[in-house]
Amino acid sequence: MDHFNYKDGVLHAEDVSIPALATSVGTPFYCYSTATLTRHYNVFADAFAGLDTLVCFSVKSNSNLAVIKTLGNLGAGADIVSEGELRRALLAGIPAERIVYSGVGKSRAEMHSALEAGIHQFNVESEPELAALDEVACSMNVKAPVALRINPDVDAGTHAKISTGKAENKFGIPWDEARRVYGLAAKARGIEIVGVDVHIGSQITDLFPFEAAFKRVAEMVVTLRGDGHTIRNVDLGGGLGIPYARGNEPPPAPHEYAELIRKIASGLDVHLIFEPGRMITGNAGILVSSLIYCKQGTDRQFLICDAAMNDLIRPALYDAWHEIIAVKEPAPNAEFSAADVVGPVCESGDTFASARSLPPLAAGDQIAMLSAGAYGAVQSGTYNSRPLIAEVLVDGDKWATVRPRQTLEDLIGLDRMPDWLEEG
Ligand code: LLP
Repeated sequence: MDHFNYKDGVLHAEDVSIPALATSVGTPFYCYSTATLTRHYNVFADAFAGLDTLVCFSVKSNSNLAVIKTLGNLGAGADIVSEGELRRALLAGIPAERIVYSGVGKSRAEMHSALEAGIHQFNVESEPELAALDEVACSMNVKAPVALRINPDVDAGTHAKISTGKAENKFGIPWDEARRVYGLAAKARGIEIVGVDVHIGSQITDLFPFEAAFKRVAEMVVTLRGDGHTIRNVDLGGGLGIPYARGNEPPPAPHEYAELIRKIASGLDVHLIFEPGRMITGNAGILVSSLIYCKQGTDRQFLICDAAMNDLIRPALYDAWHEIIAVKEPAPNAEFSAADVVGPVCESGDTFASARSLPPLAAGDQIAMLSAGAYGAVQSGTYNSRPLIAEVLVDGDKWATVRPRQTLEDLIGLDRMPDWLEEG
């Protein structure tokens, strides 16, 4: 459920009119809804009521400081994968003891910063990473709290590019190596073993892969405890999918996911950590764009809009399907027809939708691409020298620009001319 609805004939984010926002900030822009973020966070967190849990919002899905702070105020921790995300989480007021650090390639400098901050847990993904963390922690005279991320070799049944729990993926420590690596960790002076971690992929729309992976993790907890290790924390990662298309079967609801986990974790006596990203931010954001031209091709109609693949790369990268609606509410008797919605970038892959059924639209009209709050702005770039676009956060009838549109001066001003090319 989200808070983007038609009111008085135009799309609103909560009580704020999208055309009014477009007039103020220009298009294209991302618009996030506080009520939707809040609802999604609470639905997820409440599903685990009564259990000892920490919900660490996966900052990579939407790292705007205002979004992180909104969730932090609700009690969320943060799942981070870089020093940049660590800084963002801390700046947004997330206490270090609610931060977990994932990722296969943490540098020593990044480890140092996270140890200095005093984060809750490092999710370590390989033997060399464990050795590096031990070395950095020893040099600082501290112990790093570590969970090893174990690769359960489970097929998440999602797009290959966002599947992470198969043996062929670069993530985690191979299942059969886990006990040996825990043995090494136990001997390392700079390491304190605190738990186990798993994350099998993203946009998972079926409970079965979760069940398969979490059952394996539960068995591993028992085995590791039998080996004498202290396993307090079980981090089950993120990955719960969201509905992108109306009419498709909805993914499992958080309470169903929680039910499964309650069953598997009952009797284990562990502190459960979750790293949801998309589930919280996905449907809490839209991308608003204006049509520049409507162009008749040989066999199809192209709607050329002012947003492009550099602003929202998901369709180009994962063949992702985003619902597209007109900002002005279509008349009840409007005749829908098929069109390709494309951006101005010079690549055929710059296509948001093909043969999409849309109401009558003309140049100057605005459209909204839905479910763009996760992995939208964070994956944007400046290809074709297109500045990064604005981000707006709405809360009831209030709104604020939480990232201004980059200017061409900012963008081009990043380049430096070598002295041999300077004039004069
Ligand atoms: N934890 C770890 C270790 C992760 O790698 C991820 C996502 C998450 C948590 C959050 O997963 P979520 O709950 O959002 O599914 N750019 C892609 C998605 C990449 C996901 C990367 N890892 C997309 O646009 O679909």
